[in-house]
Amino acid sequence: MEKGFTNEFLFGGAISACQAEGAYDADGRSLTIPDIVKRIRPEERLTFSQAIITEKDIEEGKKGPISNYPKRWGIDFYHTYKEDIKLMAEMGFRVFRFSIALSRVFPNLTEKEPNVAALKYYDDVINEIVKNGMEPLVTMSHFDPPIEVYEKYGGWCNREMINIFYKYAKVLLDRYQNKVKYWLPFNEINAAILAPFKGVGIIHGTGIEYENKCWQAAHNQFIAAAKTVKYAHDKYPHLLMGSMVAYVTSYAYSCKPEDVFANDRMDEMTNLVYLDVMAKGKYPYYAKTYFEQHGIQLDMEIEDDEILSEGCVDWIGFSYYQSIVTAYTSEGKSVMNGNLKGGLKNDFLEATEWGWQIDPLGLRTLCNRLYDRYNKPLFILENGIGRVEILNDDSTVHDDYRITYLRDHLANVKRAIQDGCEILGYTWWGPIDLISSGTSEMSKRYGFIYVDQDEDGQGSKKRYKKDSYNYYKHLIETNGEEL
Ligand code: BG6
Repeated sequence: MEKGFTNEFLFGGAISACQAEGAYDADGRSLTIPDIVKRIRPEERLTFSQAIITEKDIEEGKKGPISNYPKRWGIDFYHTYKEDIKLMAEMGFRVFRFSIALSRVFPNLTEKEPNVAALKYYDDVINEIVKNGMEPLVTMSHFDPPIEVYEKYGGWCNREMINIFYKYAKVLLDRYQNKVKYWLPFNEINAAILAPFKGVGIIHGTGIEYENKCWQAAHNQFIAAAKTVKYAHDKYPHLLMGSMVAYVTSYAYSCKPEDVFANDRMDEMTNLVYLDVMAKGKYPYYAKTYFEQHGIQLDMEIEDDEILSEGCVDWIGFSYYQSIVTAYTSEGKSVMNGNLKGGLKNDFLEATEWGWQIDPLGLRTLCNRLYDRYNKPLFILENGIGRVEILNDDSTVHDDYRITYLRDHLANVKRAIQDGCEILGYTWWGPIDLISSGTSEMSKRYGFIYVDQDEDGQGSKKRYKKDSYNYYKHLIETNGEEL
């Protein structure tokens, strides 16, 4: 029989606390970095940069008005989780990925005991997921450092963050190990360099000192993640611990050897280095060379090498939305802005309004490369398409473009499985509309479920099934046999 998706394949979806929960000041939660990142205007979609946040922006953000900061209300998942989880289950999801917020569990970071109200809330969410027949996949930190991480510690470049995170991770593992099997310490850990403010609480800077700080933050997150993985492996061997990068595949601009070489180097230092450290337990040679050549000096403790080597992950996770192009020199070539990496335009691909170039076959190529490199099961933790959408008078949304995107990407996942890759699951990003991470817009909608809410948080907040809802449901029911 031809290989393909099995009944064990974890079809599902993924959301994050800071984009969905809202309730930013409920039950003792503290203010977080995403709470003060302003929504951009539609005309800025192709020009803004997620990395550039200044002290002035932060001061403004703390004062409000809150209407500029949609992540504070999200889609009110904090209160609607029961109804929303039910809708996911009805679609046939086998896994539901969500994140727990440090700002709820240890609002001031230094408390000895976790916040009981927060844990009670997450108990309920997890119970609800399990009750509805889905496997919970927990992200421990998804782009939501409490503001104190920046204000008190100066970001993740401060080693004290490792202790804070480790204390938090142990609370979660001890409490939920019997209900949650799949764990991810950090969402898209390469945000330390790509979007340092939201990833590691470091505000924009320039020059070597700034770059050094960001790599130090990445290093501290590697250590925190490795300690967490080791703790779980030692105490709860049934758990499966993962890693994750935002993988933006890049192609060489031409077959000119200089373009190919530049593209390979770019791929190493923006994607692979993170997975290499977390999967192989040590810095690869090319990263050491890069650090040397660029004057990056990491502050490493004597035990760090051992921690990394003892905390290797069980599976390789990544998000995949798009691909870009890299050339030896970008002079005279069209640049794609709006996505995390920039990169060059690919004339063979269509792009979304946000400049994300759609490339389903690139996902098959990537699965094969990663499986070959690591020989560990893969988990496609995010994939999806954000579009501006309106609800029709008859309460429908005809999102054929989303059906096409989903079908084409999953067809390539199926082919990757047929190629021989071991893939644990696929969690569509934003199965229910939520606030965009990069732009804080509500109108960048990813969902199979439409949420009736506008940019200012106004609307009935009612949930409506789009056409893609039934498509994905059928696809899961039939294990993608029509793909
Ligand atoms: C990933 C993040 O980078 O991309 C998600 O893990 C995010 O949090 C997703 O929402 C899509 O990005 P955006 O900016 O369109 O929300």
